[in-house]
Amino acid sequence: KAALSTARLDWKLHLFPELDSTNEMAKKLIREGQAAEGTVIISRQQSRGKGRRGRSWQSPLGGLWFSIILRPELALSEVVLLSLVFAVAISQALDSFQFFDPQMIKWPNDVYINGKKVAGILLELSGELEQADYLVVGIGINVNMDRASLGRGLAKTATSLWEESGTYYQMGEVLLRVLQSIEEYYYEFLKNGFEDIRKEYKSRCFHLGKMIRLDTPRGSVEGLNLNIDEQGNLIIDSGDSIECLNTGDVALLAG
Ligand code: BTN
Repeated sequence: KAALSTARLDWKLHLFPELDSTNEMAKKLIREGQAAEGTVIISRQQSRGKGRRGRSWQSPLGGLWFSIILRPELALSEVVLLSLVFAVAISQALDSFQFFDPQMIKWPNDVYINGKKVAGILLELSGELEQADYLVVGIGINVNMDRASLGRGLAKTATSLWEESGTYYQMGEVLLRVLQSIEEYYYEFLKNGFEDIRKEYKSRCFHLGKMIRLDTPRGSVEGLNLNIDEQGNLIIDSGDSIECLNTGDVALLAG
């Protein structure tokens, strides 16, 4: 257990060799009443890493798998925006490693390099439904994994910092940069709201203004991605109608 002080969040880092999921461990600490804001659970690997929409998340050695516990005093509608805010924070942090196209974000909160996913965020609430007491921000970043350890099915759609740059990264340095960036954007959001961050989100989003397909649990929508609105919704002009959507997976359409 190590402590690291930055301007505002009092980070408390807990490093584990292996967990089922850092999000699950974070929620366990919350249930046990041991969850100060700024607690960070890191695991070298996860046996049952969780992704968005009920998917599993491959978490071998060589990746950065961690969960941050926060206690924002926000309404649910604002908490939802935090997942977009943190996507900007992560892409800013990775961008600061200098070599990427800054247009890394895929709505709502995936981070891509050269068309392949490098990082994802899983936000979980714990506490009352209307007023989230605790927020668990689970972040997975493919750092030093090679193609083989990304897994056979994933090599086409996922990548790692190592694969894209041929450079080996110090995990601690990547973690620090991401935590600093998260802190910066978190307080910017608490202080000034979403609007400026939304502008940055839109400039970092690679499918805005393009033809996309959104696959949702209730079917697919195709059309021009017009906007990301103030509530974080994806706005698509399908030709027949303007659709405002709050969940799904974006795919770029060719051409
Ligand atoms: C996604 O893009 O589907 C979200 C992936 C989130 C993965 C991270 S790894 C650390 C934390 N613990 C988990 O079980 N999941 C998140």
